[in-house]
Amino acid sequence: MGGRQAFLNGSFLVEDEAVVSIYDRGLLYGDGLFETLRTYRGKPFRLDAHLERLASSAAFLKIPLPFKKEEIKEAVYELLRRNRLSDAYVRITLTRGPYGPPARCGKSSGRLGLETEQATLFIVSRQFTPYPARLYRFGAKAIISRIRRSPRSVLLQHKTLNYLNNILARTQAQESGADEAIFVNTAGFLTEATVSNLFVVKEGQVFTPPVSAGLLPGITRQAVLEICHRNCIPARENNLRLIALAQAHEAFLTNSLMEIMPLCFIAGKPIGDGRVGDLTRRLRGLYREMVRKELGL
Ligand SMILES: Cc1ncc(COP(=O)(O)O)c(C=O)c1O
Repeated sequence: MGGRQAFLNGSFLVEDEAVVSIYDRGLLYGDGLFETLRTYRGKPFRLDAHLERLASSAAFLKIPLPFKKEEIKEAVYELLRRNRLSDAYVRITLTRGPYGPPARCGKSSGRLGLETEQATLFIVSRQFTPYPARLYRFGAKAIISRIRRSPRSVLLQHKTLNYLNNILARTQAQESGADEAIFVNTAGFLTEATVSNLFVVKEGQVFTPPVSAGLLPGITRQAVLEICHRNCIPARENNLRLIALAQAHEAFLTNSLMEIMPLCFIAGKPIGDGRVGDLTRRLRGLYREMVRKELGL
């Protein structure tokens, strides 16, 4: 009895009982999407934006969303209530679902057809575990991944269940004693890190690679661009070569869980003076303020 609950296709179940089919295409082919977000005192930050991204990627991949956005939103809040969570990590996963019975879907089984009976949607939540404090105090260290990204791969613009390149790159980072890996695309431009977007600061100006370079349009990335705009901090999307990172004064990474994390070393060399930059620190404060204001905390 008891135990943490998950939402699965309309029901709240104890996590151990929330199981999906071995024929689920999310599992078989990575045929699905996910969202990860953070809640502050029980309130999810920019849940609407996360659901918009999920819905538009689902439409792109022709995965029918089995619930309305409002219903998913309500399910997130209800799950947080049931699990008595305040500062939480929430993950919403959507897959194309399992193949239906062979009589109806037999023709497509094992043939990558799109026919499934019903998409699978589940939500899990747990207490938020902060990233190690040292990463904010001294900044993260990144390597440049050997894996090159194709700017033509439209899938990079969606948060799909295919993270193997990211996992390989993260493994390379760990093996070199770094915290993160940055991807460069086949045209030689910077894209993003394995689970975060990349920003570079040069002479008080903020730059981030454009989505067309082959990266996820992060919700936090968007929030940072808004913050810069509102505070008259020059910021723009720009194709950046590796040298721009090596010669930057500051750099930082963003995602919904880490918020803004300073990046102080690239390929073993310091970025700027190798310490957390002033603008990065300021943006971190402004981001927290934005979260507090938007959530009414
Ligand atoms: C590859 C990748 N890029 C960027 C991000 C940042 O996205 P967001 O700010 O929406 O969390 C993530 C988040 O997990 C990611 O996996």
